[in-house]
Amino acid sequence: MRRATSPTAISLRCATSPEWVPTVLADFDTFLVDHAACERKASATGMLFVVRYPDRPALIGPLIDFAREELEHFHEVWKIVSARGLQLRRDRPDDYARALLEGARHGRDERLLDRLLIAGILEARGCERFGLLSNALEEEELHEFYRDLVRADARHQRLFFDLAREYFDDDIVRERSEVLLELEADIVTRLPVRPALY
Ligand SMILES: [Fe+2]
Ligand SMILES: [Fe+2]
Repeated sequence: MRRATSPTAISLRCATSPEWVPTVLADFDTFLVDHAACERKASATGMLFVVRYPDRPALIGPLIDFAREELEHFHEVWKIVSARGLQLRRDRPDDYARALLEGARHGRDERLLDRLLIAGILEARGCERFGLLSNALEEEELHEFYRDLVRADARHQRLFFDLAREYFDDDIVRERSEVLLELEADIVTRLPVRPALY
């Protein structure tokens, strides 16, 4: 029996549109190529924290692990993409991530906190959507692949929030989370539904 999506540690402020799953299934090839890019970008984001914040040692080990795991996801998605005779594509501007990052403040500490929370929110939205997709996929192998990604992203979103709490007070983390989750809900509602993860 198929299990329901695991709950997320932070609660997103709006659910994904019911149009999203049918849109993805109608053009699954396009979705897969976008998904591969998202995994690669997640890995790069992990390493970006490592490069930018050598003075925050609590981040380094967990985010090297994170980057490695996301790189593994990228490899797995690439295998699916390649088996279907598809090609990866060059990066395109990502309206969702860009709009979220525009919400990050500029002071060094403020930016670190906001970027950690945004990374956690990206994982939370990925977790929600992989769950929706996994439940809709008939092919057992793909169903299981996306179900495993739900578990990974549930872990990842907790990781980023835990790392935020490592360096910032709970109240401040909660307050910024509220602001950024509201922003995310606004962005998700505003952007068109596409055969893409975000
Ligand atoms: Fe991933
Ligand atoms: Fe992830």
